[in-house]
Amino acid sequence: EYFMTRGHIHNQADRPEIYYGQKGRGLMLMESPEGEVRIVPIDAQTVCYVPPFWIHRSINVGDDDLVMLFCYPADSGQDYE
Ligand SMILES: [Fe+2]
Repeated sequence: EYFMTRGHIHNQADRPEIYYGQKGRGLMLMESPEGEVRIVPIDAQTVCYVPPFWIHRSINVGDDDLVMLFCYPADSGQDYE
């Protein structure tokens, strides 16, 4: 995986997502429909909540692998456009 994932919004845009950091140091870059930007650290043993309708991508800012577990409703889908 590249150091930064492709940003996306969910096809079913009202579906949220949770990321749980396992290893490494990362950031979640998010943008709301109104254009508000938030950058949330994802370190080991931390949780990042991506609200519904927010565009999001993760960035590895450490020297090692960034390992995360993520959960979202199965019908969310991804829109990379
Ligand atoms: Fe997502």
